Amino acid sequence: MIGKNSILETIGETPLIRLQELSKELNTNIWGKLEAANPGHSAKDRIAVYVVRCAEEKGYLKPGGTIIESTSGNTGRSLAMVAALRGYKCIICTTTKISFEKKAVLEAYGAEVIVCPKEAKPDDPESYYSRARALHEKTPNSIYINQYYNTHNVEAHYHSTGPELWKQTEGKLTHYVCCVGTGGTISGTAQYLKEQNPAIRVLGVDAVGSVLTRYAREGVLDENDIRPYMLEGVGKNIIPSTVLFEYIDEFVQVEDKPSLLRARQLARTESILAGPSGGAALEGVYQYRHYFKPDDQVVVLLPDHGISYLSKLYSDAWMEENGFL
Ligand SMILES: Cc1ncc(COP(=O)(O)O)c(C=O)c1O
Repeated sequence: MIGKNSILETIGETPLIRLQELSKELNTNIWGKLEAANPGHSAKDRIAVYVVRCAEEKGYLKPGGTIIESTSGNTGRSLAMVAALRGYKCIICTTTKISFEKKAVLEAYGAEVIVCPKEAKPDDPESYYSRARALHEKTPNSIYINQYYNTHNVEAHYHSTGPELWKQTEGKLTHYVCCVGTGGTISGTAQYLKEQNPAIRVLGVDAVGSVLTRYAREGVLDENDIRPYMLEGVGKNIIPSTVLFEYIDEFVQVEDKPSLLRARQLARTESILAGPSGGAALEGVYQYRHYFKPDDQVVVLLPDHGISYLSKLYSDAWMEENGFL
């Protein structure tokens, strides 16, 4: 039989697609890495399967155990998918920022979802970080994935996304553009790529209202920089240890509105339905456009699928209500 033994074997080896209109408009070569092609519709499938396998191998996770995570949604979905197949219980602590669709998918995989206030500071007992940690402490045979401080998050991309991009571009890529949330995707991939060719430029895309860019540029972590924003999965109000700043050459910050409009543009010009962070990454490409030369090969990672945002980004009513149209 030519087939897969389980859905988990379909994770990775996602397509790299030339963004034709964008390449023409920016007079260079822009390629999108389509992470929506993973079975859980995002790049987070890569870390879920890797982290759980490592926990099993090290004996931290035993049959009947519980997987706990604090996440804005995608890591939860991927963990819920892996947990369902391997027979683990899964508890996801998330924030009120989560879309209706993302929560429904977690529940479809059988996960328990705990929604925490998005305004709660990380050390507030009501924050999604604190709730997850507390649950882990009181639940026997449980693991807390803690993706913001888990080196496996970076390693997963070092071993998969990095080598895939190197192979798919035949070692010709010149720029890698990627959103930074936990930083796992950009850091692991960039580390691998720079080991192959240190001249590859890596551009981190952050949100206006996040603390990462100032920290990268000035080494300053200032809570006064924190502002609310809509983009899911982009930027942070903490400095995760999974952001390996040494592999990121530059940071750009993007606003909600242009990012969301870029995602809509991508759907209508390239027929790729990406999430808001894909739009943010594209907006980062636009901000950086003056640095690209005609024969550059620019890879932009599109982290997840737009289908999860039909009631937000792809709803005209929601866009209008929020002043984005
Ligand atoms: C939709 C989305 N885009 C981008 C990211 C950022 O990826 P990373 O956490 O690897 O930096 C995340 C992560 O939470 C995400 O959920």
